[in-house]
Amino acid sequence: MKTEYFSVNPHKPDESVLAYCGKLLRAGKLVAFPTETVYGLGASGYSVEALKEVYKAKGRPSDNPLILHISDERMLGNLVAAVPETAKILIKECWPGPLTMIFPRSQKVPNEVTGGLETVAIRFPSSLVAQKLIRAAGVPIAAPSANKSGRPSPIDAQAVKEDLDGKIDAIIDGGVCDIGLESTVLDCTEQVPVILRPGGITVEMLTKLIGPVALDPAMVKANEVPRAPGMKYRHYAPKAPVFVVTGSGDFSAALAELAQSYVQQGRKVGLLVCREWLSQLPQEVQKLDFGSFSDPAQAALNLYPALRHFDDLDVDVILAQGLPDEGLGRAVMNRLLKAAAHQVIQL
Ligand code: TXA
Ligand code: MG
Repeated sequence: MKTEYFSVNPHKPDESVLAYCGKLLRAGKLVAFPTETVYGLGASGYSVEALKEVYKAKGRPSDNPLILHISDERMLGNLVAAVPETAKILIKECWPGPLTMIFPRSQKVPNEVTGGLETVAIRFPSSLVAQKLIRAAGVPIAAPSANKSGRPSPIDAQAVKEDLDGKIDAIIDGGVCDIGLESTVLDCTEQVPVILRPGGITVEMLTKLIGPVALDPAMVKANEVPRAPGMKYRHYAPKAPVFVVTGSGDFSAALAELAQSYVQQGRKVGLLVCREWLSQLPQEVQKLDFGSFSDPAQAALNLYPALRHFDDLDVDVILAQGLPDEGLGRAVMNRLLKAAAHQVIQL
């Protein structure tokens, strides 16, 4: 298959491109598109054939349900059986934006979307390109991240191309995503809503809006089975083993020593460290900038491109600096610990 490629201005996208790609989607074709979080691989949420193709193109296990993307709250009516009170508040305060909510499903939603569950995940993205594309398609759009299953999610069109070129019908290039990590997933079907995946809408923000929220135990502990089926796979994984390195204060000297010990064993080391430490670490290792230690938004944008870059560099081992587990840092650490299969070195 030849993948068609379109480049659009994210703030003023070419309407004819979106009309054409909307038509492709409605006809059951697959179109990758930008959102404010990561690129999504879109398919009509009502086309069973297209949904099956999504699983095939990504190599995704069939028990891993998809998120339906909408461009208007009124689209919810056809997709969910009820809207819990907490969800009503969050719809008002956080949509459009990087928050996916789990609702009891309507029977109109195909099993290929829900993975056979009695719930459905819905998100109203804030990205203008995404909104206009969904509107042009005229149907809810199922969209997992546009990566090959197991690879880091793509935050630009080049990364989508690396994974899916020749396997999907079209890619819309709308530049680099704003956030760089997937949306927060919140299960609103419970009395106390449960965060299944941390993201751009943080625990702190949710608590302020709706009071207590629970964290899926699998988010915190390595051996729990997660309730979002997709979180159980070793995701976001580069080829080389990853170790998260933590310590208190400035442990750059200890990190330099650890990196040197790998170099002495003849291993090619990749280091992902905060900007403040870059110059203090050995020349012989591949160093990538994680952003400023005090700004997890930079780390969120740098994480997936860095993991992909280490693959290209063919490093043997990756050492990544741990960040404080709060705010957006919690989402960064969640993805990083999964990439590391929870291997942590405390210095
Ligand atoms: O930011 C995002 O959410 C991106 C962009 C493209 O919108 N999409 C995304 O989709 O990350 P995906 O498929 O890579 O991740 C969806 C996650 C998976 O962990 C899946 O298991 C979970 O949401 N999920 C979907 N439906 C669910 C449901 N009914 N119950 C529990 N978890 C669900
Ligand atoms: Mg994904």
